[in-house]
Amino acid sequence: MNLAIAARPEPICGSETMLPVPVRILDMHPENFNTRTVQVQIVDEGLRQRYRWVPGQFNMIYVPGIGEAAISISSDPDQHEAVGHTIRLVGSVTRAIERIGKGGMVGLRGPFGRGWPLDRLHSGDVILIGGGIGLAPLRPVVYWLLKHRDRFRRVMLLFGCRTPEDRLFVPELEKWDEDPRIDTLVTVDNATGEWVGPVGVVTKLLQRIRINADRTTAFVCGPRMLNRAAAWSLEQLNVRSERVFISLERNMNCGFGQCGHCQYGSKFVCKDGPVFALSEIADIFAKEEV
Ligand SMILES: Cc1cc2nc3c(=O)[nH]c(=O)nc-3n(C[C@H](O)[C@H](O)[C@H](O)COP(=O)(O)OP(=O)(O)OC[C@H]3O[C@@H](n4cnc5c(N)ncnc54)[C@H](O)[C@@H]3O)c2cc1C
Ligand code: FES
Repeated sequence: MNLAIAARPEPICGSETMLPVPVRILDMHPENFNTRTVQVQIVDEGLRQRYRWVPGQFNMIYVPGIGEAAISISSDPDQHEAVGHTIRLVGSVTRAIERIGKGGMVGLRGPFGRGWPLDRLHSGDVILIGGGIGLAPLRPVVYWLLKHRDRFRRVMLLFGCRTPEDRLFVPELEKWDEDPRIDTLVTVDNATGEWVGPVGVVTKLLQRIRINADRTTAFVCGPRMLNRAAAWSLEQLNVRSERVFISLERNMNCGFGQCGHCQYGSKFVCKDGPVFALSEIADIFAKEEV
């Protein structure tokens, strides 16, 4: 992949008509007790060849008769045959996707939104901070960073979840843990079973690493509490707010700035985000309810 990563691929599926295109579920891999990674393939070969996305973008996945859910793309952006989504089974659409299962069909619109600013990383240190399902949109960033590893100094991944059983991508986390190119730290809120790793909120992991604020860029994605705690901790460490990027979650409907469902101050999360520099949203972010 070259620096075309800076671009924001426009939706090629269903942006104007709101009509989803049919996609087949090629694989459904259990990540843990309530989360599945679902690989889908666009049935129309022409569309499939043209479909491109960047890390941090999302698709709207549609189940006929039930509805749509916004789901981040969690696979490698260089893989074009299928598109991966890591889905927590929380409600009507996500549970229906699981019921449809491998071999079944769903609809897809996308890709939507503005992804992580990989073009603005320069040559400094990169910290990725993920909580729970928030690791999903950061996984493509890890793939990308490892492919372009010589451009950066330190690459760090901090991931937190409720218990060891809630971890996602466990084989990859173990692989990255042994990979000298990336410092991987995982913490859990509650140590169950044989867990001997760190316990506590993910922001506590920031105390275990040395941060050089002048050259650090941070990407954060997690529940609202985590995003706020990470923003505050990074500020305490003097990381500039223009270099802290947060992926926000809001209720989505159209996905491309037409319906107003995802309004966040003067911005639409679907179109202007979901990834924002903290400096862009600092006012509203500071005031919003936790
Ligand atoms: C930009 C963006 C990217 C997203 N990426 C992902 C992703 O990669 N993977 C993913 O699983 N989800 C992701 N989501 C969240 C997903 O869109 C919602 O969880 C969605 O509501 C699920 O649809 P549903 O019909 O299954 O649940 P709904 O029927 O909408 O919700 C059912 C119940 O679950 C609760 N609920 C909804 N979301 C959550 C949640 N996240 N955690 C706990 N309870 C919840 C609701 O409050 C409701 O009570 C993303 C959302 C946005 C805006
Ligand atoms: S979801 Fe319609 S404006 Fe964002």
